[in-house]
Amino acid sequence: MNSLQNKKDIVVLSIESSCDETACAIVRNGREVVSNVVATQIEIHRRFGGVVPEIASRNHTLAIENVVKEALKQASMTKDDIDAIAVTYGAGLLGALLVGVNFAKGLAYAWDKPLFAVSHVKGHIAANYIDSTLEPPYLCLLASGGHTAIVKVKDYVNLELVCQSRDDAAGEAFDKTARVLGLPYPGGPEIQKLALLGKPVYDMPKPKLTRLDDLFFSYSGLKTFVINLVHNMEQKGDKIPSADIAASFQKAATDQLVDTLRFAVENTGIKKIAIAGGVSANQELRDKVDGLKKAGCEVHYPKLKYCTDNAAMIGAEACFMIKSGVEESDLSLDAKATVPLR
Ligand code: KG4
Ligand code: ZN
Repeated sequence: MNSLQNKKDIVVLSIESSCDETACAIVRNGREVVSNVVATQIEIHRRFGGVVPEIASRNHTLAIENVVKEALKQASMTKDDIDAIAVTYGAGLLGALLVGVNFAKGLAYAWDKPLFAVSHVKGHIAANYIDSTLEPPYLCLLASGGHTAIVKVKDYVNLELVCQSRDDAAGEAFDKTARVLGLPYPGGPEIQKLALLGKPVYDMPKPKLTRLDDLFFSYSGLKTFVINLVHNMEQKGDKIPSADIAASFQKAATDQLVDTLRFAVENTGIKKIAIAGGVSANQELRDKVDGLKKAGCEVHYPKLKYCTDNAAMIGAEACFMIKSGVEESDLSLDAKATVPLR
């Protein structure tokens, strides 16, 4: 139970700071984004080739107050229009999460509003509800920098893990492949751009799935294959065919995601599917997932701007948590580096 559960319209101010985006959004009833502000630190971390946690925390501290003010301004709202505060409490970088969690606690206390603690992963999944009519249950392929998994979304607040990566996440493989090809961080969008100029001429490895009831992902073999391929070429003094490598990598990475999703559909019998997380912005992945319509699947995608980290997805999940009767958090809420997928 929570104090807002039976209220007809619910307006949430949500905060997200788990990695390198400082974000605040205002979301109504889980499907309507009133405002959405994302201050990205990508340029700051780019010179280091990836996110530096301490630098991320410091920049969240600098940005958060203005980001929250801007979200209120763009929505033409004041604290009186807000029913609840929501914040990502995990998973993510602890120091980064703490900035958002503490700011949210301060707001909840000062404004006397209930506080809701949202899982980052559930937020990514809830990005599918924005401007959409999607309702659980369905299967969701989650592919981000930190997770690669298929979950059964049983209702708006409960997940059941179907399968996950045994090693690296898909986004991590995109980022590492980009790095060996000399492309900037984050690698996913860069690989996608470069792949358009090449052909998937290299046959790259993917795990052999032998049983429908024993599904998994694995990206470390693919990553190592690309590293060895490039190093061998460099040692021989060959010119690196970066575009062909990008296209081949993207093909193998997305084939693995979609093949496993297809097996999960067969195994569970659930034909309503969605995708989520930063990698769900990938066009080749979207095209391949679209192909599952031929197998009778109903397919849902988040809008591109809600695929990578943002606070609108956190607000969307928070609205559904409230409607589902999830209890509010108290001011002892702490950040968590990892959160179970359930
Ligand atoms: O969900 P996200 O923003 O942060 C995490 O929760 O991890 O995902 C970031 C990941 C990065 O690895 C990034 O390279 C990848 O998503 N990504 C993409 C694309 N856009 C972002 N991967 C492939 N294609 C894209 N267009
Ligand atoms: Zn994320």
